[in-house]
Amino acid sequence: MKKYSLLIILVFIFSCKESVDKKKDIVYLSPDCGCCHDWISHMESNDFVLEKNMDANMYDIKINAGLPIDLASCHTALIKGYFIEGHVPAQDVKRLLKEAPDGIIGLTVPGMPAGINVPGMEVNNEKANFDVFAIDSNGKSSVWAHYE
Ligand code: CU
Ligand code: CU
Repeated sequence: MKKYSLLIILVFIFSCKESVDKKKDIVYLSPDCGCCHDWISHMESNDFVLEKNMDANMYDIKINAGLPIDLASCHTALIKGYFIEGHVPAQDVKRLLKEAPDGIIGLTVPGMPAGINVPGMEVNNEKANFDVFAIDSNGKSSVWAHYE
């Protein structure tokens, strides 16, 4: 009888652990990309916890997440069910989680703008002129935030 209840407890613990893991926020990146790591540091200093996955087929991850591929960047994060593509500032992710607008499935900063106001891409002292786009479930984009 004792052994039996121990087994139940163990099963319970392991199934709990698994359900927690599924809710983990994750970032997919290629191992040789420095700017991806810099963006992750930016997110971590803004209280996000991201598990890194470097073995991913980036193209499939992006397509499966619902990102229009012409709006792609380097890394792809999956945070609380949203995709966050490229060098999106943490404050925009926080606003997305807070406001949770109808139909929006993710944010992207397409390509790789460089400037001191682009987290992870602070390679010069100029500010970049760039937009963060919100993508809806039909693949339509709208400007979520503008920086210059
Ligand atoms: Cu990058
Ligand atoms: Cu990246």
